[in-house]
Amino acid sequence: MDSFTFRSPSKQSTSSEPDHHQHHQFGSLIPRLGKKYRSLSFDSGLLLIVNQRFESPTRLVMATSALNSDRKIVTGPAGYILEDVPHFSDYFPNARTYPNPLQNNAAYSVVKQYFVDEDDTVPQKIVVHPDSPRGTHFRRAGPRQRVYFDSDDVVACIVTCGGLCPGLNTVIREIVCGLSYMYGVKKILGIDGGYRGFYARNTIDLDLKTVNDIHKRGGTILGTSRGGHDTTKIVDSIQDRGINQVYIIGGDGTQKGAAVIFEEIRRRGLKVAVAGIPKTIDNDIPIIDRSFGFDTAVEEAQRAINAAHVEATSFENGIGLVKLMGRYSGFIAMYATLASRDVDCCLIPESPFYLEGKGGLFEFIGKRLKESGHMVIVIAEGAGQDLLSESNEQSTTLKDASGNKLLQDVGLWISQRIKDHFAKKMTLNLKYIDPTYMIRAVPSNASDNVCCTLLAQSAVHGVMAGYNGFTVGLVNGRHTYIPFYRITEKQNKVVITDRMWARLLSSTNQPSFMKHDDNHEPNHSGGEAGAMNW
Ligand code: F6P
Repeated sequence: MDSFTFRSPSKQSTSSEPDHHQHHQFGSLIPRLGKKYRSLSFDSGLLLIVNQRFESPTRLVMATSALNSDRKIVTGPAGYILEDVPHFSDYFPNARTYPNPLQNNAAYSVVKQYFVDEDDTVPQKIVVHPDSPRGTHFRRAGPRQRVYFDSDDVVACIVTCGGLCPGLNTVIREIVCGLSYMYGVKKILGIDGGYRGFYARNTIDLDLKTVNDIHKRGGTILGTSRGGHDTTKIVDSIQDRGINQVYIIGGDGTQKGAAVIFEEIRRRGLKVAVAGIPKTIDNDIPIIDRSFGFDTAVEEAQRAINAAHVEATSFENGIGLVKLMGRYSGFIAMYATLASRDVDCCLIPESPFYLEGKGGLFEFIGKRLKESGHMVIVIAEGAGQDLLSESNEQSTTLKDASGNKLLQDVGLWISQRIKDHFAKKMTLNLKYIDPTYMIRAVPSNASDNVCCTLLAQSAVHGVMAGYNGFTVGLVNGRHTYIPFYRITEKQNKVVITDRMWARLLSSTNQPSFMKHDDNHEPNHSGGEAGAMNW
């Protein structure tokens, strides 16, 4: 296995012993920044790169994150910022490269500009004013002219962690197909049962035959689990098995784990690439347009909402109440409501509500039943948890193995509260439907299958091209490589002072439940995340 050293620019990289002073070799970065950048000099820890086209300095800033990883930030004219991801050439200045095998691939060799230009980056924000700074950009994903692995030497592994999500098997399949068909890789291992599978289980051999029709099945053929992240044991296992490409599919907790694995791999001086493919049915990962499986979840939720509507319309004062997933973010509930048109009220974690009194939920239910004789309520599992703990006088400090807050069943609780409230006033027929795990366990739909395929291919291209320590994600419709820290430092939430929530309120005509003294700061920026800010 190759190793690298962190060396000051004056030293040659010859030793296989890691240099614990961790000076950084920037020189090799210049070719990858492209032809427009022509010189550099060190200026108190910042790397200045002169941009030929604009004749103004472009600054590469190496900052230190909480995880002690280097942040590669390039700044340019008119407020341009590139939040770049690590690359083998940053710390393997003499790493051998090879022509991309796609050049000889009959399908790709005819495609004009199939290889991504080194200078291509994707803006985080696309709604701009004439005087807006150019803002933050991410490196565009895709195949590069040269690759940093000889296909015969590649030993790749894939692991799935955390909760289920439609499309996991499709991502696994397409990583295997991408590596095999596009790059001729022959050795691909599946890690059994999440992070702990690295050190507690045998690996599973993956090839084109094993993965052939797994995309038609829900779940993950590799198995999954929460927790089990023992960095030392995981990296020992990677080293012992000779693995040099690690593809990690999971949510924000998993991606934090991937960042720590990447750090440890770098610390040990191993030439091993770590790439994350973000997964969460809740769609709460920032920066990216949407996470795979979300579209399927919204579609599958329609079946439960339809059933709730049928039940509600068939009985006197019928109420259909559907609980959907969404621990901290109500995206599934919001989109399922907007898609359905049968929902009268959507309750999400971001929008506090109250039951009793003027403008409260009970008043609204009474009004809607009087008007139309039936109603459908959609509630995200994380909504109303504060009310629930107040009324149960139980604390909600329990956490699952991933560190997520363990929720109490708001669906059951609110059903009972509604029944109790109306018991003496009218005959109520309330049917509570909890389809949460059924939704998560289905295979991905056509749109998510395409999404999974492209994410997997982008991850494979990035790793083969020498990029490292990144998560792949769709930003404004383009695939990008995003540094781990950007997608783990916060969660994406529905901004209830943004247009989308206003559209929902106009569609259901439900109260906003905002009291006049609620202080909701308007979000003039349209939210930081790219996620579905239409
Ligand atoms: O992965 C997110 C999620 O689906 C949440 O919506 C949900 O709260 C949680 O996982 C439940 O997962 P589990 O019961 O498997 O821990």
